[in-house]
This record gives sequence, structure tokens and C-alpha cells, in this order.
Amino acid sequence: MSEPVVYDRAPAEFELEPGEYWWCACGRSMSQPFCDGSHEGTGIEPVSFVVQEKQTVWLCNCKHTKTPPFCDGSHNNLPDDLF
Ligand code: FES
Repeated sequence: MSEPVVYDRAPAEFELEPGEYWWCACGRSMSQPFCDGSHEGTGIEPVSFVVQEKQTVWLCNCKHTKTPPFCDGSHNNLPDDLF
């Protein structure tokens, strides 16, 4: 399995409408922070999540969160050479 690629240190703030979303876990999507299928062949799968009512979320862009798809502050502990 490949390692996830850091897309950005900062998480992405979104106001999401109710629905199902697919968060990019591999960091290779061109539609960050959402999956566009670019993970194919990496062994990494996107993470689905459901929003029940309109809400603001912070989605992980460093791809090292322990609580995907949401930012848990892990970007603060990553070495600078990952960016
Ligand atoms: Fe990254 Fe699908 S493109 S998980």
C-alpha cells in the first residue's frame, strides 16, 4: 500500500449540505478534499461520510488525521519535509 500524499498542511473548511461525501485519503485527488478516483492502484480507499443537516466541517488535507475525514490537528506534528 502506498503512503498518503500531503495535499496541504491546513484543513479545508466547508459548509456542506446534507448528503453523502467521499473524502480523499490518498492525497492525489485533483478535487480536494474529495475523491476523484485517483487513488486507483495505491491500495488506499476514500472515506465516506454522511452529513445529516447543513453544517460547517473542517476536512483533513494533510491526510494523516486519526479521525478521518475530519482534522484532528495531526498536521501540527508532521515533519516539515512532508510539505
Ligand atoms: Fe484520493 Fe480517491 S482520489 S482517495
